Amino acid sequence: LGYFTYDPGYLSTASCSSGVTFIDGDEGTLLYRGYPIEQLAEQSTYLEVCYLLLNGELPSSDELHQFSRIIKEHSMLHEAVRGFYDGFRHDAHPMAIMVGVVGALSAFYHDATDVHNPEHRKISAHRLISKMPTIAAWSYKYANGQPFMYPKNRLSYTENFLAMMFGVPTGTYEPNPTFVRALDLILILHADHEQNASTSTVRLSGSSEANPFAAISAGIASLWGPLHGGANEKVVIMLEEIVHSGKKVEEFVARAKDKNDPFRLMGFGHRVYKNYDPRAKIIREMCHKLLAEMGGENEPLFEVALKLEKIATEDEYFIERKLYPNVDFYSGIILRAMGIPLNMFTVIFALARTVGWISHWNEMMQDPESRIGRPRQLYTGYKERNYVSIENR
Ligand code: CMC
Repeated sequence: LGYFTYDPGYLSTASCSSGVTFIDGDEGTLLYRGYPIEQLAEQSTYLEVCYLLLNGELPSSDELHQFSRIIKEHSMLHEAVRGFYDGFRHDAHPMAIMVGVVGALSAFYHDATDVHNPEHRKISAHRLISKMPTIAAWSYKYANGQPFMYPKNRLSYTENFLAMMFGVPTGTYEPNPTFVRALDLILILHADHEQNASTSTVRLSGSSEANPFAAISAGIASLWGPLHGGANEKVVIMLEEIVHSGKKVEEFVARAKDKNDPFRLMGFGHRVYKNYDPRAKIIREMCHKLLAEMGGENEPLFEVALKLEKIATEDEYFIERKLYPNVDFYSGIILRAMGIPLNMFTVIFALARTVGWISHWNEMMQDPESRIGRPRQLYTGYKERNYVSIENR
């Protein structure tokens, strides 16, 4: 291979240096800018975590107040963006809409292309964090044929998203405080996760100095896949199949172990966590709390999930391969209990991860060692051969 190494899937390649998020996969540790995820989940809010990830430090109360004000200021979408939604089929997956609309924002904010200007980078970050709930909620409204709801300044970031999703112009929707806290927690837990596939996609596409809206649109496309952000949707489909088919949990575990069957237990396994996913532990507790409060703790889906976790984590196959439930295993059950439809699960992941993507993009743009990403390959094609004219083929 000469002077480079072959590493498909980047199992042992550090593609960059970064000070945003730290993971110790053996210990089950996750830190945002040095702060343990458990403490942030317990004591912080999503907007405060956004400030922390973007700026590197927790905000003072004045700084947080100012940041919230700026984020509220940018939450509207240009009316011409609204028109884009009509171009999609009524049954478009909301992730398809997200990829298109976020990428199209570059057409509205030309300052975003000036990637070397720190002020322009900052405003792009604020616009993205701020507009994401509106873009996401509208993708849901469009699919339902309901009128779009505009953001309301009196509401918090998370309340606003729920109000834009579930409110109607003639109603007086007030978000349930338990749902607001549960969703805020999900957003905190998904805010960043160092060099995962979508963040690496944002970095690679941004390394050519493409504008941040285009780079993040690429990140959303990468997140959509079932092995990444799409897993939370697939977990609930799998749990529902178990509940409704009447098949035993053991049958699904056996299928996941069968090497001739491509089926995998969705929500299990992680490239980096080989002990447990600390986010899964936090979200499992929230799942208990939320379902108990809603009187649905005996919800069959949750029962099946607990059973599946127990059987799989005691099974030789999963122990040997260090496969544990990941964050997506329980997040889908919470979202479903809140009445959020399946196809919006990955959209909510994208909404949460936007701050992580833009923090990494920003870090890369300021890194003097950053260069255009250009992996090498192990060529397996033909050696040089001569062209054959069409009549001789
Ligand atoms: N069910 C059954 N077997 C599995 C699973 C699973 N969920 N995950 C991994 N394995 C097996 C795999 O077949 C392989 O076995 P063997 O060594 O016999 O060939 C071994 O475990 C190692 O798997 P891998 O695919 O080489 O591991 P990876 O690090 O490339 O993939 C993963 C990590 C998360 C893509 C994978 O575990 C998976 O497909 N999980 C299910 C999808 C999922 O839950 N994704 C969400 C990840 S967390 C949130 C996020 O990143 O967005």
